[in-house]
Amino acid sequence: MNEKNKILGEYKNKLNQLKIHSKLYFIDDNPKITDAEFDKLKISIINLEKKYPFLKKKGSVIKIVGAKPSNKFRKIKHLRPMLSLSNAFDKTDMEDFLKKVKNFLNIKDQNISLISEPKIDGISATLIYEDGVLIKGLSRGDGVTGEDILENLKTIKEIPLQIKGRNIPKLIEIRCEIFIGKKDFLKISEKFANPRNAAGGSLRQKDPNETSKIPLKYFAYGLGALNPMIFNKHSDFLEAISKWGFTTNPLSKNVENLDEIERQHKKIDLLRFSLDYDIDGIVYKVDDLNLQKRLGNTSNSPRWAIAYKFSAEKALTKIRDIIIQVGRTGAITPVAKVAPINVGGVVVSNATLHNEDEIKRKDIRIGDTIQIQRAGDVIPQVVSVEINKRNKGSKKFSFPLKCLCGAETKKEISKTTKKEDAVRRCIKGYDCKYIAKEKLKHIVSKEAFNIDGLGKKVIDQFWHLKLVREPSDIFKLDYDKIQNLEGWGQLSIDNLKKAISKAQLINLDKFIFSIGIRHIGQENAKILASFFGAIKEFAKLFDIKLRKKILISLEELDGIGETQIQSLENFFSNPTNIRITKELIQKLKINNFAGQNKDGKFSNKKLMFTGGFKNMSRSEAKAIVEENGGKVLGTISKKLDILIVGDSKPTKKKIEQAKKLNIKIILEKDWNKILNS
Ligand code: IVH
Repeated sequence: MNEKNKILGEYKNKLNQLKIHSKLYFIDDNPKITDAEFDKLKISIINLEKKYPFLKKKGSVIKIVGAKPSNKFRKIKHLRPMLSLSNAFDKTDMEDFLKKVKNFLNIKDQNISLISEPKIDGISATLIYEDGVLIKGLSRGDGVTGEDILENLKTIKEIPLQIKGRNIPKLIEIRCEIFIGKKDFLKISEKFANPRNAAGGSLRQKDPNETSKIPLKYFAYGLGALNPMIFNKHSDFLEAISKWGFTTNPLSKNVENLDEIERQHKKIDLLRFSLDYDIDGIVYKVDDLNLQKRLGNTSNSPRWAIAYKFSAEKALTKIRDIIIQVGRTGAITPVAKVAPINVGGVVVSNATLHNEDEIKRKDIRIGDTIQIQRAGDVIPQVVSVEINKRNKGSKKFSFPLKCLCGAETKKEISKTTKKEDAVRRCIKGYDCKYIAKEKLKHIVSKEAFNIDGLGKKVIDQFWHLKLVREPSDIFKLDYDKIQNLEGWGQLSIDNLKKAISKAQLINLDKFIFSIGIRHIGQENAKILASFFGAIKEFAKLFDIKLRKKILISLEELDGIGETQIQSLENFFSNPTNIRITKELIQKLKINNFAGQNKDGKFSNKKLMFTGGFKNMSRSEAKAIVEENGGKVLGTISKKLDILIVGDSKPTKKKIEQAKKLNIKIILEKDWNKILNS
């Protein structure tokens, strides 16, 4: 037998073995070898294929694990958005969360049962099953659109390709967290900063064979789309999917009150270091799915869940230098450059010092030994200074009064509190090149234009080469120049062109958020987009006379206050901002605001509430109006269509004003009827 045949023989034998064990594992649910042996077999086949390319023509491990190399991930819209979670850091935050939930639902004395689950520090993905068969697997992406990483997910053996069991719904979407075990990470730790990055890197491999080499695992934790609705509680869902073969976290547990929340939190925190996966907190979720539905979401996170973080990991190190960084709003942030130190498995060399006052308060100096802490992905912070370790000759740090661009910085006086802001700011806007660069990074970010392939690092690179200076430059890039840069091939350029051209079609609310007006976050951008409706209307803000009028009428919008109005005035009274915004608009096609439900019960209607309801809170009532296409105003004016009067302590004056203006008035009992109709 010649050498080639011998290799072929060995290869075919292994392939056969893999086929047999895949069937035993996936189809018969009766594995005869351990997971580690299975992985070893798979990897030995992949290695053979790599070493002897002629083998690939013979059939491949890919066919068996269902993996197919793909060059690019297809974008697919999520059936339901994949949101993030708001955070709690202590018992008081959790108390607030419980209060908010109860207030929203207008429940006073009753306890709300929560389910607690460890928050896995991994990468989220979603699995879609039709008639029990895994048909789609997506990454989170920007939360609205994910990437088709089905083939990569299929390489994770524990993910069922087919659900086996009873009462399988027609459609079920299962949200899960993909991670790499701590022990497995040690074997590949030189390539990645932490297990989370390793899992992300592996999942995003273009070639699923590469994914299959890194031993990924997962926990299923959430329900996405479901048809028909067969669960009443989240805990029922977890129990059912666990029976169907999904891996759920064994540490999940129901808790009934604040004491139990604390107890569970402490218990898992103690266990944390003995687990083979990183967790950074506990997620507490309202167990009742009906209540979850009533609570709904804010723009980014559900009202029915919260991540209660563990306290951060700490370490001692030395400050080598203190530098300043300039953010997109001009905020000057001091940063400590520290001697690199391993904090809970991640090497840290920078720590934020927040602002001038913080440095003064803690008397932080260059050369000091400090305790730093790192929690999840946030920038590490300085906790305290070890004064007894300080050098005798050390001097107090004097905070630079100028921005890196050379301009004087200022501390603003807050309109509402009348106090001086702790943060020093450069107020040059786009005229400060440091701010301008940060603004560009904001514009291309996920929550804004979401341009794939144009992240922070690329902006740094393009900025350095003077390829971009202002937002509109993104849409007239000099690709001939880019082509000659290291790391840029035809494929990546074509992809970038596509991503940029796609980003030129943008919704009004995203556009408003993208231009980076201070105090106008995603939620406020939505409120403004709903007010203006179309870019033509929004652009009236450029005109000083029209702006004055518009800003006055914004006062009546629920959610927009003095701070936001002042910030809009500041932004648009700067001619550079107007020029830059106009030039950007010319490059785009901006969709009218579509957030409103045109067929809802309150479409195009402006409503206002006075008085409380028996069965629901004001917040829930407001959310219902908005879901049904209406807007909620904060003051009575001619524009108001309906005043809804709750039975509990309505304001008489408001009712009188409404009557005078001939505004329709609806009482609580009629409001309930409308909702039930
Ligand atoms: S529930 C609507 N449960 O944390 C969002 N998330 O910060 C519901 N995560 O994107 C998320 N373990 O990737 C939930 N037991 C768990 C989780 C968990 C990890 C991740 C998930 C999510 C992120 C939110």
